[in-house]
Parts: sequence; C-alpha cells; structure tokens
Amino acid sequence: MRKFEVGIVGTGYVGLVTGACLAHLGHRVVCVDVDAGKVESLSRGVIPIYEPRLEKMVSEAIERGSISFTTGLPGVVQGAEILFVAVSTPPDDDGSADLSNVADVARTIGASLASGEREMPLTVVNKSTVPVGSGDYVSMLISEGARERGGLAGSEYHVVSNPEFLREGSAVYDSLFPDRIVVGSDSRYALENLRELYRPLIEQSFPTEMDPRPKTSVPFVTTDLASAEMIKYAANAFLATKISFINEVAAICDLVGADISNVATGIGLDERIGSRFLSAGIGWGGSCFPKDVAALRSIAREYDYEPAILDATVKVNERQRKQVITKLQRELHTLKGKRVALLGLAFKPNTDDLREAPSLEIAQALDTLGARVVGYDPVAGKEAARLSGGSLRVVYDLYEALEGSHAVVMVTEWEEVRNLNLARAASLMENPKLVVDGRNILDPEAVTGAGLVYRGFGRA
Ligand SMILES: NC(=O)c1ccc[n+]([C@@H]2O[C@H](COP(=O)([O-])OP(=O)(O)OC[C@H]3O[C@@H](n4cnc5c(N)ncnc54)[C@H](O)[C@@H]3O)[C@@H](O)[C@H]2O)c1
Repeated sequence: MRKFEVGIVGTGYVGLVTGACLAHLGHRVVCVDVDAGKVESLSRGVIPIYEPRLEKMVSEAIERGSISFTTGLPGVVQGAEILFVAVSTPPDDDGSADLSNVADVARTIGASLASGEREMPLTVVNKSTVPVGSGDYVSMLISEGARERGGLAGSEYHVVSNPEFLREGSAVYDSLFPDRIVVGSDSRYALENLRELYRPLIEQSFPTEMDPRPKTSVPFVTTDLASAEMIKYAANAFLATKISFINEVAAICDLVGADISNVATGIGLDERIGSRFLSAGIGWGGSCFPKDVAALRSIAREYDYEPAILDATVKVNERQRKQVITKLQRELHTLKGKRVALLGLAFKPNTDDLREAPSLEIAQALDTLGARVVGYDPVAGKEAARLSGGSLRVVYDLYEALEGSHAVVMVTEWEEVRNLNLARAASLMENPKLVVDGRNILDPEAVTGAGLVYRGFGRA
C-alpha cells in the first residue's frame, strides 16, 4: 500500500474523523485548525466532541506518531501530497452556504504554494459541503492567492470534490465502511491519487476488530466536479424528503385511524422504497439536513427554478415541531405553569451536536407559552442549557426530569430514553401523566398499561 502525506484543514466532526481514519489506514496525517485551544487539546488526545470510538482512535494514532495537530496551514501545505478541506460552511441568512472559511483556506493554500518549492503536485480535496461550482471557485482562489505572492513557482495543484456522507453518532464506522466513495475532478492524476489513498477502504484490506467484517469492498465512484458536489446535496435532500414524506403519511394516518408503524413496515419491504428513514416523528434537524436543503433551494432559486418538492419537505418538517405543542395543548389545555420534561436534547442519539436540534426549538416554544421546561440528555445537557437562553432547565438524571412533570416528550431516541422504566415514570409524574412519543419508540399498550397517557405520531 502506498502511504501518503495527508493534510486535513478543519478538525470538526468531518475533519477529525477523516484524519483519524486515514491515520488508521496507515497514512501520515497532519490536522490544522484555526482554533488554537482545540489544537492544543487534540494534541493531548482529548477530543472536544462526543463521537463513539473516535478518542481511542486519535490517541492510538498519536502514540504511533501517525497523526499530529497544528494551527500552521502554510507548513502543512508544504508537506502534504493530498490536502483535505473540511471546514464549516454554515448557512447565510438567505439559506445559501457561507463559503468564507473555504475561501480563506484556498487563498492561504495559493500563497503557501507560491512561497514554497514543492516537487510534486498538490491534490486539494474538498470535503466541506459546498454549492455546485465551488470546486472551480476554490481553484480560482488558489491561483489568486498564489498570484498575490508572485505566482505558483512551478507548483501544480489539482482540485477534487470528495463529499462526505458520514452520520454523526456512527462517524467512525461510516468512514471505515462507507456505502460508496464519491470523487469528482477534471484531473485524472488527482482521481488516481485518491483511488490509491482510499485503496485499503475500497478493497477493505485494513485490519478491523469487526467480526464479521460488514463489507468486503466499497464502490469508488468517479465523476466530474459539479456532479460530485451535486451528489451530496441530492443525497441529503432525498433523505430529508423521505422523512417528511412519512411524516405527511403519519398525519393522514392520525386522521383516518391507520397505524404508521404498520404502514412503514408494509411499504419499506418494497425494495424500491427501502425500510430506512421511514420513522415518523418530530422530524429532521442537525448540522446537515436543514442547511443542505436550504442551500439546494437557494441554488435552484438563483437559476429561477422553483424547488417545489424541497419547499414542501421543509414545510412539513416545520409542522412536525408544532404538532408536539398541539399534542401537549390537547391534553394539558393551558401550558402556563405546567411542567414538561424533554428527554434527549442532542439532535440525534450518540452525538453531542445541538445544531438545529428540535429540542431547543420546542423548549423555546413551550417557554413562550408559560410552561416550565426541564431537559435531560446523557451528553449534551450542559451545552443545551447554555444555548437555550434560559428556556430550559437541564438536569443530569433522567428520572429527576420526570419528577412532578405533567408531560414528557421523547425528543431524542437515546438507548436509555427508549428503555424508560414506565412504572417508575408513572409514579413520579403528575396527572395527566402524558407521554408525547416524538420518535414513536415506545409500545403504546405498555405505556397505557403503566397508567400513562400515550400520544405518538400517526399511531391513532
Ligand atoms: N457534521 C456532519 O455530519 C457532516 C457530514 C457531511 C458533511 N459535512 C460538511 O463538512 C463540513 C464540516 O462540517 P463539520 O460538522 O465537521 O463542522 P465543524 O463546525 O464541526 O468543524 C469545522 C472546523 O473547521 C475549523 N475551521 C473553520 N475555519 C477554518 C479555517 N479557515 N482554517 C482552519 N480551520 C477552520 C473550525 O474551527 C472547526 O474546528 C461542512 O461543510 C459540513 O456541511 C458535515
């Protein structure tokens, strides 16, 4: 296997996981971030995010000397054969992706190429989610950055788009056993470089503790730059739409007396549909779906195209949050003074990420209506308290959250939330002891049997 010198810019969920996994495959990795505190903590093997298996992987790579961390991008550009860009691309006010971090990095790459003397070309791989056409923009900015320092001094570079599909909460697993690797570029040299870099993943030849191994090979899809960039947006938009679709069907189930769980099983067994992403509930949130759907809608509008399906996907999702409030109001009537417990605050289980988390939006709405909101999460509690602006009182024991609560909302399906002790919940709660099952994870009969009132989504 050929070992590469790899640089990674941005040590968030994507950059850090990518760096740790490439080091695990045997490459030599240097990670760069503008956040000096983060770099200092990572250098000691302490990771600032919660992601299963990641800390162990980073510590092991540090011990082997195959990963290191720095704030100095120019030095990393000098030493790298392949440089990944995995910086944040948050949404602007109009929904479009803010590319300022990507642009800063591209200019610095150009300037560093101009001032150094490299013998081999640099392959710049964009892993940040960026609008179609950004690859060309990055290329232009690298040239501009170099020109400002007197030109490229003979250094060649190639730009590749390599969209990331990992899921927070299982990011390491997804990176080692991906469904596919997509790379887009006009440069055959760069595409072949990436094929070599990823060969241990493509052939699934790296050592793993997983027995049996979940995959024997991984498809390596090569495209042009624009298509690779579009694949990322289309994938997330499709998944968000699938969830909004099942939520729409669940709302109709509620009206006609059908059960969405049965309906989802019945349609999911059709191979053309598939059973995943058919869980009805309070809808999608997180760091990717909301911003990527917003960005794709914004791209469409730039071309004067009305993205009717995407518009509806968002509208249905907004309705799901409101449905939580409606379900509470129907049973509790006025919410003023009522205590409502939110179980699970991170936007999904096994992560501490609270970006666009439904919990915060629901807490805010309940607080405005005069409810006393208490929240519990196994890892994201402290940060949720900080972000909630006082609308949420966080406790660090699940059952303490239930004590004296008139209603509980299952917001995030952590394992311990799924395994709620119903009898204990009933003994701690106040009438009407309402359970709003925002993720349809409980057995309605068991909930009712324990003396609680059950309200799910589409489970009339
Ligand atoms: N989080 C996900 O699940 C996920 C999945 C697929 C794709 N993506 C995409 O990947 C990109 C990164 O996402 P993330 O969740 O890892 O973001 P993040 O916010 O967790 O991390 C981004 C990191 O980049 C650093 N950074 C910002 N500007 C920088 C600069 N100029 N130089 C060096 N470092 C800089 C920040 O300090 C931060 O550590 C985004 O475009 C996102 O849409 C994210």
